[in-house]
This record gives sequence, structure tokens and C-alpha cells, in this order.
Amino acid sequence: MKSKDFLSISDLSRDDIQRLISSAINMKARGWSSLLSEKVLALMFEKPSLRHRVSFEVAMRQLGGNCIYLSPAEVGLGQRESVADVARVLSSYVDCIAARTFSHHTLETLAAYSRVPVINALSDLEHPCQALADLLTIYEKKGELEGLSIAFIGDGNNVAHSLLLGATLSGMSFRIASPTGYTANEKILNLALQYAAESGGAILCTEDPRQAVSQADIVYTDVWTSMGQESEAEKRRRAFAGYQVNSELLSLAKEDAIFMHDLPAHRGEEVTDEVIDGLQSVAFEQSENKMHLLKALLVEILGGSEILLPDYR
Ligand code: NVA
Repeated sequence: MKSKDFLSISDLSRDDIQRLISSAINMKARGWSSLLSEKVLALMFEKPSLRHRVSFEVAMRQLGGNCIYLSPAEVGLGQRESVADVARVLSSYVDCIAARTFSHHTLETLAAYSRVPVINALSDLEHPCQALADLLTIYEKKGELEGLSIAFIGDGNNVAHSLLLGATLSGMSFRIASPTGYTANEKILNLALQYAAESGGAILCTEDPRQAVSQADIVYTDVWTSMGQESEAEKRRRAFAGYQVNSELLSLAKEDAIFMHDLPAHRGEEVTDEVIDGLQSVAFEQSENKMHLLKALLVEILGGSEILLPDYR
């Protein structure tokens, strides 16, 4: 990895992604081990979490390590104590910090003042652990990444950003359909364009969900209103009204296309029950894979080279 911290998919190379996927596949087969015994991870969350919190905790336990969860009220990041001081104090006790913050800048400050690695467990800009778990799931289902096309329908948000970077690094083509005003961040798009030029991937930004989904291998959506944007929910419901992934839209993708969602889903908004509970949906496998992927990531960051890698094509 390029730095001590994992704040963005851009901290990884294409080889890093491939190695983490191989390692996660290995972890999934291997189950419990003692690779991280005597290691302690602090989880510091400013926003709610079901999947990330539990999968980080179980991942550490299955690797023989320990985990301490700090709720927003306990830390008061930047309110009770400055972000820099929290980083200084916490990093003198634990071996790694996984943080979920409102602002990406808070994560960068934590990382700058922490002596131990900081992992992004979701910020307003990126959700990189989710993207890695998604790429693992795609690899399991399709046997490859390069050359596949993924259609992301909806908000150009944290989930879209990390997936866009991960997909283009991996030689995939990424199409995103969003209404005006809700497209992906320009800096992320420019970086992804560079990645796509190097990897043979491609990017399409459109307002037309049908164009994005047409003959895609993967159809992905996320909530229209992310955590922290609740006051905009009504306005967003109106803006995204034509962007629901329903059976009719999904039928435009390839016959063997898979449907993905990082969850939690706002059923009836960005996706119908029929699609998320349907045969093409791998949403719940994505959730499980998060835990296996986090094990691979934690061992990579904290445990060095003890992993035996299976072949990766
Ligand atoms: N975009 C969503 C992802 C939740 C895991 C949010 O930030 O709330």
C-alpha cells in the first residue's frame, strides 16, 4: 500500500487490489486464525453502522485480536476534544483506528496526527472498504474484473466514488447515471479517467439510467439520501424519481447481470423488493464479503506478509 493509512481507493494500486481479493478469498476458506493476536483495533464512529461495526469486530476476533468500539458520544470528535488530540491519545493505546466520519477532512486530520494506521470506515467522500468487498463479490461471481461493465444508478456519492476508482483501476468500464446536480465529484472523476486510460477501462456519465444499464454486467445502486443529508430527503426523492432500479430497468442489462447494493436499502425508493430479493441480487453476499475483505485488509495493514496467497487470475 502507498501509505500507512487507508483513506481512499487511490491509496491502492491495481496489484494491491488483486492481492487483497486473493487474500480475502483465502481468509474466507480459512476461517479463524491467530494472525493478529495481541493487536487492538479502535472503532470510532460518528454515524450509525450495522455491517461495518459488526464485520470489523468479528474480523478482529476471528484473527485473534481485540476491538474497542467508541460511540460518537464517547469521543466527541472535534467537540469534546480536538481531532488531533484524539488521534495522539488513541494511537498511544491501540494498533489501528477505523473511523466513520461526516467529513473526509476529519479522517485526514486523524491520520496526520495518528502514529498508527487509520482506516476509512466511510466518510462523505469515500467508502473504500465497501468498494473492495464489492470487487471481491464481483470477482467471485464473474471470475474476473477486467473488461466487465458496471452501471451505477443514482447519487454520485461516497459509495459511487470508491467503486468508480476501484473499477477503473481494475480495467472495468464504469457508467454512472445521475440527475443534474448529483453527479460524481470532479476530482474523483478526473483521477478515475487517468486510471481508466492506464488500465483499459472506460467511464460514461449520463442522465439516462437506461443508457447506463444497457447490456451491463453489473447494476449497482445506493440510497438517494445518505447519512447526514436527511433534511434533503424530500427534494432528493423528487430529483431521483426516475432512477429506481426495478425489474424493467434491470431487464435491459445482460441476461446474467448481477444486482448490487451496499445496504442499508431504502426499499421502494432506489430499489424495489422484487429486485433486491430477486435471483440476480447479491446484496447480502456483499455484506458477508465485507467481513472477509476486512480480515485481509487488517492483516495487510497490521500483520505483514503471513498470508498465503492463492492463485489470482
Ligand atoms: N451512501 C450511504 C452509504 C451507507 C453505507 C451513506 O453514506 O449513508
